[in-house]
Amino acid sequence: MITKPTIDRIMEATDIVEVIGEFVQLKKRGANYVGLSPFANERTPSFTVSPAKGIFKDFSSGKGGSAITFLMELEKFTYPEALKWLAKKYGIEIEETEMSAEDKAEDNRRESLMIVSGYAAKFFHESLLETDEGQSIGLSYFRERGFTNDTIKKFELGYSPDQWEAFSGAAIRNGYQEEFLVESGLSVKRDNGTLYDRYRGRVMFPIHSFTGRVIAFGGRTLKTDKAVPKYVNSPESEIYHKSNILYGLYFAKKSIREEDNCYLVEGYADVLSVSQAGIENVVASSGTSLTVEQIKLISRFTKNITILYDGDAAGIKASLRGLDMILEQGLNVKVVSFPDGHDPDSYVRKLGTNAFKKHIEENKKDFILYKTTLLLKDAGNDPIRKAEVIREVVESIAKIPDSIKASVFIKECSSIMQIDERALLSELNKMRLAKAKKDSQQQNNRHHQQQYDDVAPPDELQYLEGFTEQKPKEIDTQEKEIVRLLLLYGNKMIDWDGITNTYIGPFMMVELNDVEFDVPACKQFVEIYRHEVDNGVLPEEQHFIHHPDKDIVDLVVNLLASKYTLSENWYEMHKILVPDEQANMKATILGAIFHLKMHKVGKILEQLRNELQTATSDADQDILLNQYMHMKKVEKSISDYLGSVILK
Ligand code: UTP
Ligand code: MN
Repeated sequence: MITKPTIDRIMEATDIVEVIGEFVQLKKRGANYVGLSPFANERTPSFTVSPAKGIFKDFSSGKGGSAITFLMELEKFTYPEALKWLAKKYGIEIEETEMSAEDKAEDNRRESLMIVSGYAAKFFHESLLETDEGQSIGLSYFRERGFTNDTIKKFELGYSPDQWEAFSGAAIRNGYQEEFLVESGLSVKRDNGTLYDRYRGRVMFPIHSFTGRVIAFGGRTLKTDKAVPKYVNSPESEIYHKSNILYGLYFAKKSIREEDNCYLVEGYADVLSVSQAGIENVVASSGTSLTVEQIKLISRFTKNITILYDGDAAGIKASLRGLDMILEQGLNVKVVSFPDGHDPDSYVRKLGTNAFKKHIEENKKDFILYKTTLLLKDAGNDPIRKAEVIREVVESIAKIPDSIKASVFIKECSSIMQIDERALLSELNKMRLAKAKKDSQQQNNRHHQQQYDDVAPPDELQYLEGFTEQKPKEIDTQEKEIVRLLLLYGNKMIDWDGITNTYIGPFMMVELNDVEFDVPACKQFVEIYRHEVDNGVLPEEQHFIHHPDKDIVDLVVNLLASKYTLSENWYEMHKILVPDEQANMKATILGAIFHLKMHKVGKILEQLRNELQTATSDADQDILLNQYMHMKKVEKSISDYLGSVILK
């Protein structure tokens, strides 16, 4: 874990306007900065940054938080990744705390694997550019394929010499451990224990992680011998899980977000050529068929995928089914095909950038319509096959979670297939119904208990109380009000009894000692607050704004950044509250605490009533009834207190 002092230093150095300014064009407005939301399409800026508070709030998407949250939301970094990004930007050295031996070992292993891979990428890149063999074989091959120096540098392309131990030997001489050379798949161990290179005489495509570190390789042979596999790829390892990696994503993500679209191609060469042509929002699934994880990865950046297929019709049909998976994730899929024998790589080189872009624009078809047309052409006039086509198409449409979007497709397909829209709709509804039944069966099991709790008490118990159940919404508001008060006033002093000045936070902690919070984020907030107070610290807003837990940050920022508070006057409080403010403050705080307590007591009473219903023995009933009466007294005293002491 990154140490607290390091985190503090990073926080101190971080200028939120500067950080966000790297991604969003910000304009000063009053004390704040505003810009167009990077999370939503908008024309009028609703994205607000408050340098004083160190927070941002996006009123379009509802997202908000610190500079760290921003990086996590936009770049999809983890908390430590965001910290590291900031540390790098501000030149801060990172110290990490002692982890458990196990975690540390695992972390070290992963780190070692990445270091070895990084070294290998450098070795291959240098051998491509700086050795005779690399230049005459590898570099001339890349040149022939039309890759520029910039592309070769950007993607760190390389060459592995056609020798048994060129890389392994160099790595060992440079102190890299055998264990990691073997685990990363760069070297293979012989029976006699020595190492040889996995990639020999191949051009090398390093595969980068999300944050730009090399984690694997694809090596392409330059031989035409059919017995030699065209690509040799890194095996799965602790740092490389094929199914959730997309080749090129690190370089493409910015452009994917900006263009709000991701082009999906098949091979390394396609990514390079298309990207080099200026279409940078392109990734490849590299050899495996697309996985759900990969789709989810893309959907963090855009909901639009455009698939660039090569012209092979058999291949297209084979992958049609796989694409339903993308629909299921709620993404929009478009398909562009290329003339027979061409893939995106060869076609962009043939046409040049502009004509290629034009081809995409003119030929992109919505996946469902594309599929419909293609299958329909295949079925010809055969009515049975045509019926199958209808089924298959409607099956795809049924996968679309958005029902409005689905009905638009039904309409369009009905006209393409020349089939009554109602017939398609009824087919769609049948599939939907079947799916809903399946889903609700699963849900039912989960919610059964909850529904049971909602059942009203039987008549004979009604006399005990005309208790009206509070809606979950209310408890939500009540608990959040406590959090809000702690945040805003916890570190302020109040003259509580006319004699002593007390800090509000610790006072509230004592009063809330016996209250169990239900809303998870509020519960956690109060626990953190209590923990800090126990350590003699009065936590400030910043403590929570920079908290690693996203739910905490969300809760706090939403409370702090209502449109009202972010505008004109950020509340200004004196260190000690003036007398009439104090009266109100006292009422506000006690009111919040006791309303919440009242609610909790109500819950306990309700629970007791339920237990009374099911209690079988007289003794049990007696005990429960006693408890019930006791809680009723507590309830009464709270409500008296609320009525008398609380001024409003
Ligand atoms: P391609 O054969 O289309 O590769 O396979 P390519 O990258 O376009 O290569 P060129 O144009 O012939 O140079 C598409 C992808 O399938 C994977 C690779 O990821 C490749 O980029 N593949 C292909 C393998 O992993 N192994 C193979 O033997 C072939
Ligand atoms: Mn190719």
